[in-house]
Amino acid sequence: MVGLVSTDNQTKKTEIGYWLSSMHTGKGIMTKSCKALVEYCFNNLNLNKILIRCATGNKASIGIPERLNFQKGRSLRDDTVINGKFEDLILFTLLRKEWDG
Ligand SMILES: CC(C)(COP(=O)(O)OP(=O)(O)OC[C@H]1O[C@@H](n2cnc3c(N)ncnc32)[C@H](O)[C@@H]1OP(=O)(O)O)[C@@H](O)C(=O)NCCC(=O)NCCS
Repeated sequence: MVGLVSTDNQTKKTEIGYWLSSMHTGKGIMTKSCKALVEYCFNNLNLNKILIRCATGNKASIGIPERLNFQKGRSLRDDTVINGKFEDLILFTLLRKEWDG
């Protein structure tokens, strides 16, 4: 599953969220899927900014915005709840002008 979590058409920004069955990880499937979605956001939806928020300890998740050249931003303290515990998230962003396709 990969999709747009929330889209604001006024500020032209959206957030990508993803989940992949463990049977299919380690093959680059999600990076490729996110790349296609990023292209769709910029080329078809005419958006300007894409956010991805990853839990600080989630190396597999962080690898995706890193491979797609998102800019690493600040840490968002206690920004989500995982298994009943508050967790920090790292904010990654990509602007349309930074995307070279
Ligand atoms: C986050 C998640 C989707 C990442 O899955 P993933 O398999 O690591 O991601 P990708 O499909 O992009 O594959 C990247 C891996 O495939 C490898 N790979 C193989 N061929 C590749 C290719 N052509 N391109 C890119 N990566 C490739 C990479 O080296 C990387 O392996 P590594 O983890 O050993 O470094 C998965 O772990 C998941 O669903 N987790 C649970 C839910 C979750 O955490 N969601 C995110 C919330 S923000």
